[in-house]
Amino acid sequence: MAGDSGADGDNSGTGTHPTKDGKKATIRDVAKKAKVSLGTVSNVLNDPERVAPATRNRVLKAIEVTGFVRNIAARQLRGGGSKAVGIVILDSSNPFFTEMIRGAEDALRQEGYLLIACSTDGSSDREAMYLRHLEEHQVEGVLITPSNDDLDQIIDFHDRGTPVVLVDREANSGELCSVTVDDVKGGSIAISHLVEDGHRKILFVNGPMSIRQCRDRRAGVDVALKGQRSPHATDWIEVIDLEVPSLSIAAGEEISLELLNIDPSISAIMCANDLLAIGVMRGLASSGSDLLSRVALVGYDDITFSSLVSPALTSVHQPQYDLGYAAARLLLEELSDSGHRHHEIRFTPDLVVRESSIKKSSPA
Ligand code: RIB
Repeated sequence: MAGDSGADGDNSGTGTHPTKDGKKATIRDVAKKAKVSLGTVSNVLNDPERVAPATRNRVLKAIEVTGFVRNIAARQLRGGGSKAVGIVILDSSNPFFTEMIRGAEDALRQEGYLLIACSTDGSSDREAMYLRHLEEHQVEGVLITPSNDDLDQIIDFHDRGTPVVLVDREANSGELCSVTVDDVKGGSIAISHLVEDGHRKILFVNGPMSIRQCRDRRAGVDVALKGQRSPHATDWIEVIDLEVPSLSIAAGEEISLELLNIDPSISAIMCANDLLAIGVMRGLASSGSDLLSRVALVGYDDITFSSLVSPALTSVHQPQYDLGYAAARLLLEELSDSGHRHHEIRFTPDLVVRESSIKKSSPA
């Protein structure tokens, strides 16, 4: 009968997939087919390691044959978890986040969790909307790259009882677990690469300084140049800042038109992420400019496409997959350990040098 409950209290008895006679397969249909108890079927669904492999396979085959699909909503109503986790990122069209989601998904799948991805495009209102939806869907935890510096609504969400791990953003005072990459270090290694290659006038194309990653990358430039700008520095290095409204290909393409009449003494361009750099490349190529044959270009993230564009893009490598995987593991620890203490994981970026920044030297 639909709605049958399992003998061991597993109440996902009501399948949601019609059997051949049009009825929804139940946990009883599976038990009968596999010639095991309701409890054994429930164990296969909830704790498969407890069931002998041969029996487990027989039950899984019966689930396949009967078309049984467990009803998580019914299970939730009786106190079971949703086995779902949300991940809220800035921009799902940015391969940086796609790879990060992949890492989180792999970690969560190992423990039987579903991942629900949401993209805020940097909007605090959209972030609030998604947090509300995820709470209504009773997700067991959320991984989030905050849409802005204000963490209040995320902290409030957490304080209402849903574990949260920050990704690509550190917590202000350890109130949440977080996984980040040292973007100050990343900005430093990018500009140092250009300076060591002889560039003395460098254009920095940055996203909005309201984005923490953009601020830290720019701060890293100053850290690297600090020693170079001492009064005794033999040669002066100038960084010209250009801020664009978003860290997107479109913003890079748009700004490339301004670069056509770039100051000829600028011999290198650093972009705050690879999408901007790829947009600059596309814009210059569309206008027939050969600027990139004379000017070095460096991006940030080292997304998959960076090695595929031409010239291949020099970029600061962020361990995108590892960011997502590590954040999901921290969340799983918090879900399984009542004594969990929040902590931060911080990765160090490194530079991947490719054609876009080599074989170019500063003007004579
Ligand atoms: O989303 C903006 C940027 O921040 C991404 O490209 C990645 O660099 C992240 O850190």
